[in-house]
Amino acid sequence: MNHPHGHLRIDGDRLMRRLAELATIGPIDGGGSSRLALTDEDREGRDLVTTWMRDLGLDVRIDGIGNVVATRPGRIDGPAVMTGSHIDTVRSGGRYDGNLGVLAGLEVIETLIDAGVETEHPTAVAFFTDEEGARYPPDMLGSLVYVGGLGLEEALDTEGIDGSVVGDELDRIGYRGPHPCPGPAPRAFVELHIEQGSVLEAGGHTIGAVTGVQGISWTEFTITGQANHAGTTPMDLRHDAGWAAAAIAVHVRDIATRMGGRQVATVGRLDLQPNLVNVVAGTAALTVDLRNTDEALLTEAEADLAAFVDGIAEAEGIQIEARGLARFEPVAFNGSVVDTVAGTAESLGHAVSRMPSGAGHDAQMMARVCPTGMVFVPSRDGISHNPAEYTDPADLVAGANVLLHILLALDNDAFEEGAPEEGETI
Ligand code: GLV
Ligand code: MN
Ligand code: MN
Repeated sequence: MNHPHGHLRIDGDRLMRRLAELATIGPIDGGGSSRLALTDEDREGRDLVTTWMRDLGLDVRIDGIGNVVATRPGRIDGPAVMTGSHIDTVRSGGRYDGNLGVLAGLEVIETLIDAGVETEHPTAVAFFTDEEGARYPPDMLGSLVYVGGLGLEEALDTEGIDGSVVGDELDRIGYRGPHPCPGPAPRAFVELHIEQGSVLEAGGHTIGAVTGVQGISWTEFTITGQANHAGTTPMDLRHDAGWAAAAIAVHVRDIATRMGGRQVATVGRLDLQPNLVNVVAGTAALTVDLRNTDEALLTEAEADLAAFVDGIAEAEGIQIEARGLARFEPVAFNGSVVDTVAGTAESLGHAVSRMPSGAGHDAQMMARVCPTGMVFVPSRDGISHNPAEYTDPADLVAGANVLLHILLALDNDAFEEGAPEEGETI
């Protein structure tokens, strides 16, 4: 590392203390957290993290969708070198997904302040609203609005799985801020995140230099059949929404098995009505999550599913309505930033793997407006979206130190502007 502050290290104990304290908000059995976006728990988490940001004297700005950006000035004004992630969780969340990227960003800035290191450009740490999309689809809602990929009004009107509306809930928790969306494009954006898979652990690597994020397709199917008596209705006279939902779920798994490669496919939500032992289900709702690093293959999976759904609707004499909840193409990160991530981690003595991300991340949205990359640290047994999510503290601290030196490098160095070529593989 050629930079003058090559010796600088973050305070690992302080980072671990903050991660533990944030995890006590919305606690669930097993040591994880449940802070669905814009709930009271999310508000409490936001209050804690913004207090920490203000205590450091940062300029804290909240925009119209509730994204929070905290900035430390540089020697010159202008676009910031930005890091960050999210503090909302799924209902069965662990303590590191998202939280690590936000609190490590805060820790990096506190380290710079403590050491009296001035940067050329401003340095910022952000947390974005509703990254998980578990309550309000699509995922990465806040960062999508930040980069102008979705209009603010449309985002505020989004209805959640519980019938609540984003704008109402933002007002209720006091996080509809005055700052405009889209927000200012940073000079560069780098997000630290746990891998949430098992590639790093299996390969014995401490750091992942993330090359991009796979494409994602979420669809909700609402099935309308006919509720009827389970004992008296002959099999050939049924319009069974429950059977159709089950058949879709099985077919979704079959698509991934047949396609192989990086295709993954999940039915994560399934509701039957009236959900009783002796009643043929009259209605059903389920969600399908399809992902692939290759856009053409993802499109193929979607087409396969659509044809299957049409076929069983016809065969069972039922109606199936499809509603798109999220659709994002694969994103390749800026090659120059990926090189900076890998080079910085290597210069700090870490074994590095270049790899795509299986999960969605705010960085994939920021990549639309500035040179962007990500740093991964290992997840034990590849478990995430589960309170058992765990990363060795030494790896969390290693990731934060890598982040520190990446941000310093991006403050100083020239790097290639812009996104990679369209269609570049990740
Ligand atoms: C969201 O982060 C997802 O990958 O589901
Ligand atoms: Mn996350
Ligand atoms: Mn997540």
